[in-house]
Parts: sequence; structure tokens; C-alpha cells
Amino acid sequence: MVNTEKFIKAAIEEIRREAGGRTVVIALSGGVDSSVCAALAARAIGDQLHPIYVDTGLMRKGETDRIRELFGHLSLTVVDAREEFFAALSGITDPEEKRKAIGERFIRVFEREAKRTGATVLLQGTIYPDRIESEGGIKSHHNVGGMPLECAFEDVIEPLRDLYKDEVREVAGALGLPREIQHRMPFPGPGLAVRVIGEVTAGAIEVVREANAIVEEELVEAFAPWQCLAALVGLGTGVKGDVRLHGWIVAIRAVNSRDGMTADPLELPFEVLARIASRCTSEIPGVARVVYDVTPKPPATIEYE
Ligand code: XMP
Repeated sequence: MVNTEKFIKAAIEEIRREAGGRTVVIALSGGVDSSVCAALAARAIGDQLHPIYVDTGLMRKGETDRIRELFGHLSLTVVDAREEFFAALSGITDPEEKRKAIGERFIRVFEREAKRTGATVLLQGTIYPDRIESEGGIKSHHNVGGMPLECAFEDVIEPLRDLYKDEVREVAGALGLPREIQHRMPFPGPGLAVRVIGEVTAGAIEVVREANAIVEEELVEAFAPWQCLAALVGLGTGVKGDVRLHGWIVAIRAVNSRDGMTADPLELPFEVLARIASRCTSEIPGVARVVYDVTPKPPATIEYE
């Protein structure tokens, strides 16, 4: 990308030209790519854009409210699909089946909403590395669970298709998107579901959501990791007061990486790890112990499933 302002001008013209008079939808995730796309399209086609945010119940703490604040001035539709997603996930423990169930459900909800708006064009925040991964046959990280959304539409507009992530972040800055969006950590399409080993229940998601919030509070500003997270990796025995309890084992992961293909764990100070452990066990009911994962990728992946 030669020049950010030039790119923005060209992208706006492209969206306007390709949309014609048609209604356009975008699936907002709160990540930088879809946020930049929505901001560009809002400038290009105004009310012709219908951003749709699907609240799967698997999002991070405060995410849905934040999306409302940030994009509420556009004709944003927030779909409360939490019950639908938990029902679809009930009884599933296999990681691939879980991803598939989420991907299918997401497409169904999104298509339903897109139809309601009469949209025939899909705007997608595909960036250059997503295209390379798809062409190489590696699972698409761009779509939820690697499922394509484009089938139901006449046309797909992908204004970020030639940009790398750092260039998208620059555009986000130039468009005046808040810093937190501009520097947002990667977050998987299937959400917190891949951070609970075994069956996903509303109760487990509540626990892992709180644990992720604590990990982010303690690490993001202070250490600027490429990605950090908490996952529920099983059940173990703990003790509160003089009562033994069977509670969750929370694993913390904090890594640096260039592109997510390889990753190295951060050498975090012990006192920081101890504080996270203390906060998770005291602030979140049902957490029995906390461990820090020091495995690089490879051999371990960044997410737990
Ligand atoms: P793994 O766990 O494969 O993750 O080492 C590498 C990076 O990709 C993110 N990730 C996903 N992103 N949809 C996404 O949009 C997905 O299905 C998905 N799975 C993993 C993960 O958070 C990490 O940044």
C-alpha cells in the first residue's frame, strides 16, 4: 500500500461503484478487518450498508455493548442468537464438530438476517494473508469455523484483499477508529467455544469469559502480547476455606508471533502470574487452579481446540 489516504479514497470509490444501488451487508465481529470495512462502506454508501452483529453468546466480556456503542450510528442489527448457539453446541465435545456446529449456525442466522434486509451484496474484510491461506488449502481463519458466507449473495466486495494486517491497522487509525479496535488482538471466529475443552455450556462460557477478561486486564497494556487468553482445560480439586471443591483448571496463554503460524510464550514475571491466579480463584466462582502454558507453536496451537 503506497499511501493510506489514497487507499481510503480508492476503496470508497470501489465500494460505491460495486454496490451500485444495491443493499450491502457485513458481518461485524469487532475485529479490526470487519470494523475497517464497515467504516469505509459507511462513508461510501451510507444507509445502503447494513452491518449485522451476531451475538453468539461466545463473545468476550463487554463486546456486544461495545459494538453497539461503536456502530450504533449505522443501521446496525444486533441478533441475540445465544440460545440457538448453546442449543446447537449441546452434547458436542469433539473440537471439529464444535467448529462445524458454530459455523453452520452462524451462516443460518446471518443469511436469515441478510434476507430480512433485502441485501444482495456481501462486504467482507478478507485480507491478503487470508487469501493466501485459502488458496493454499489451509483452513480459512477469516470465516467462522472456515465456512464461506458468500454463497447466498450476487456479489462479494473485499476492499482489503491486498492489505496486510499492519496496513489495515494504519487505515483504521486514519479512519479515526478507536485505538482498542486498531490494535485488537486476534480472536477466533468460533469465539470462547474453542477455549473450553469438552462440552460448551453457558456456565462454562461465563467462567472462561471472566478469566479472559482478567488475563487481558493484567497483560494487554503491560506486556503487549500478540495474543493472550484463558481456557478451561478440565476439572481439578481445590480448597476454599476448609472445603474441598471440584473446580475448573484455567490455563493462561500469552504468546508473541508474527502471523499466528508460529508462536513463542512470553516470559512473564512470576508475580504477574501469581496475581492472575489469585484473581481467577478469588473472583470467579468454580475456579480451582490456574496454570501457565509455556509450549511454543509448534508443537502446540495457540488456541486449545
Ligand atoms: P491456532 O490455534 O491454530 O490459531 O494456533 C492461530 C490464530 O488463529 C486464530 N484462530 C481463528 N481465527 N477463526 C478465526 O477467525 C477460527 O476458526 C480460528 N481458529 C484459530 C487464533 O486465535 C490464533 O490467533
